[in-house]
Amino acid sequence: MQVPLALVTKYNRPGPRYTSYPPAPHFRPDIDAEAIVRLLQEDNLQPKLGPLSLYVHLPFCRSLCYYCGCHMMVTHRPEKIAQYLKYLAREIALVARWVAPERQVVQLHWGGGTPTYLAPAQIVGLMEVLRAHFSFADKAELGIEADPRGLTKAHLEAARQAGFNRISFGVQDLDPKVQQAINRIQPYEQVAEVTHWARELGFESISYDLIYGLPHQQVAQFEQTIRRVIALGPDRISLFSYAHVPWKKKHQRLIQEAWLPSPAEKLQLFLRAVELLTTEGGYRYIGMDHFARPEDPLSRALDEGTLQRNFQGYSTHGGTELYAFGISAISQLRDAYVQNVLTLPEYYAALDAERLPVGKAYRLTEEDLLRRHVIMSLMCHFRLDIADVERRFGIAFAEHFADALAQLRALEADGLVVCTPEAITVTEIGRFFIRNVAMTFDAYLSVPSDRPLYSQTV
Ligand SMILES: C[S@@+](CC[C@H](N)C(=O)[O-])C[C@H]1O[C@@H](n2cnc3c(N)ncnc32)[C@H](O)[C@@H]1O
Ligand code: SF4
Repeated sequence: MQVPLALVTKYNRPGPRYTSYPPAPHFRPDIDAEAIVRLLQEDNLQPKLGPLSLYVHLPFCRSLCYYCGCHMMVTHRPEKIAQYLKYLAREIALVARWVAPERQVVQLHWGGGTPTYLAPAQIVGLMEVLRAHFSFADKAELGIEADPRGLTKAHLEAARQAGFNRISFGVQDLDPKVQQAINRIQPYEQVAEVTHWARELGFESISYDLIYGLPHQQVAQFEQTIRRVIALGPDRISLFSYAHVPWKKKHQRLIQEAWLPSPAEKLQLFLRAVELLTTEGGYRYIGMDHFARPEDPLSRALDEGTLQRNFQGYSTHGGTELYAFGISAISQLRDAYVQNVLTLPEYYAALDAERLPVGKAYRLTEEDLLRRHVIMSLMCHFRLDIADVERRFGIAFAEHFADALAQLRALEADGLVVCTPEAITVTEIGRFFIRNVAMTFDAYLSVPSDRPLYSQTV
């Protein structure tokens, strides 16, 4: 697949990733923990209770990758990790008190930081805590993020024993010069070995994270990384655009700006990677950074219109609500988002007082719920059925969204969408610009800020 450079240049601008709507910068600190407990209770007293998704944030890493934008911390003190796990168990128990016992968990994800920095016995132990408080569906999707460096077969065996059936490995780039500049030395052989173990142990899905736009990346060398990745054959690939935000993540100053590819070079890296993955690799582009094999459930979900999106990106089936544990983790309730506090002292103090460790939250208005539905339908199904929206929300679409439809006409002229009175359909090429399509329905884009709030859309 070829994405025209002229279109990428025209549409590449800062924009939200729409893992939530409204996006996280709009969450506010003026909400108290008791109000959240009431919302949790209300959600679990609904006449029709849907299944659940869970997320656990494990922030610890062995060493610092200079590009890292995640909420993480380096530690070499095992007792610090053990203490965090004790408090996680307390948070899980506190939330589970309000959850209707008949609700089943259909999806669980451990992210970080580095979940596989836990010892194998800690991986099994934490899953036992979760299973003691929640009931899991037989075919639940259980995913864990893993760093190939320092990973042993015993870690993967523990993850399988705990029930994990999906794993994603941080790969980023296989070129030694790039790896040196980002402080992440990770030879190809190491990635090959952990992939082999994961297959042998029966993980149903293996995914790789790659990043384009890293220091010293050049098209010829990146092609080699992509070809070696294709040869290892992961089921899915996330190809992230490097978000360089040194004003937010101070350690990114360890990467000299002069080492970074220019915006034009960065686009070339992206375009070449897409071309190789979709031709030589045989992967399908799903949407927003995600590629999957045609036979992968994510590809099938795209065809069947059942793709979903939450804070971890795209998935095949998630719960109606997402309960998230650990520092910085974001829960999605029926009509609210809740983000936990960011630091360990705040987290421990709240739990010592038997309080939910709530940092920020956002209660959605009726208008937010409508716009969220429109944006998530476009992001996941790449098609919006206008009569369906009118029925669900009791609005006249053309009148309500006159501004958005006017903006969409320019995107239609560039072949990114097709608008009829019945539906808005995102074209094959338009899927690469899905954030730009979604942005036409975003009521919060004009909030002033001296620094871009969001990464580039392509
Ligand atoms: C929590 S890490 C994955 C697990 C493990 N910590 C590791 O690095 O192998 C999540 C992923 O986010 C991506 N990432 C981190 N910082 C980024 C940034 N500044 N821009 C784009 N992607 C980034 C990387 O691809 C990384 O693998
Ligand atoms: S990329 Fe992964 S291993 Fe590296 S610092 Fe970030 S969370 Fe830790």
